[in-house]
Amino acid sequence: MKSLVVYSSLTGNTRKVAEAIYNALPEPKEIHPSDEAPSPEDFDFIATGFWVDKGTADAKSRQFMETLSGKKVGLFGTLGAYPDSDHGRQCITRVSELLAGNQLCGTFLCQGKVDPKLIKMMETTMKDDPHHGMTPERRKRHEEAAKHPDKNDLINAAGAFAGMAKAICLDLEKKEVRG
Ligand SMILES: Cc1cc2nc3c(=O)[nH]c(=O)nc-3n(C[C@H](O)[C@H](O)[C@H](O)COP(=O)(O)O)c2cc1C
Repeated sequence: MKSLVVYSSLTGNTRKVAEAIYNALPEPKEIHPSDEAPSPEDFDFIATGFWVDKGTADAKSRQFMETLSGKKVGLFGTLGAYPDSDHGRQCITRVSELLAGNQLCGTFLCQGKVDPKLIKMMETTMKDDPHHGMTPERRKRHEEAAKHPDKNDLINAAGAFAGMAKAICLDLEKKEVRG
């Protein structure tokens, strides 16, 4: 079974998760940023990673996901919000929908430190915006996000994707035996 990890990352959070996933997958395997990804044709399992940009996957990862069809896919992402919040759930649902036409084997989402430049904007130019201006609640969330992805996130991501890969390997072996 040949695996491909493809990710997009502006400030490094999603890259860290991608690398943890890559390390947990069996050989043969490759890892590439979205804009340098090879054709997915030759791979049995695609792990595709995104960072949340305005409620959906960033443009580069969406572009790559559009090239996938009929593949076994594992989806992972990072975001500033809590993964188990309504926003987190909406994001993963929305991005999963981009993969219609593939077999979605599993998903993984964790918080990732928000770019300090964006936080500064929320405190200054956006301060009166009801959706983005800084509030004590948003500050608390950013303080939590600043600790992620942490060791546990990386362990959980690795475990989730190792499990998906194992299931796919078993499935491929069964198909070989059956001929
Ligand atoms: C322009 C911009 C838009 C963002 N939009 C959202 C958003 O809609 N929801 C959210 O939860 N986080 C949002 N974030 C936070 C990022 O998704 C989060 O920090 C992510 O971990 C960044 O990943 P990276 O380090 O791989 O680039 C945004 C960040 C930036 C810079």
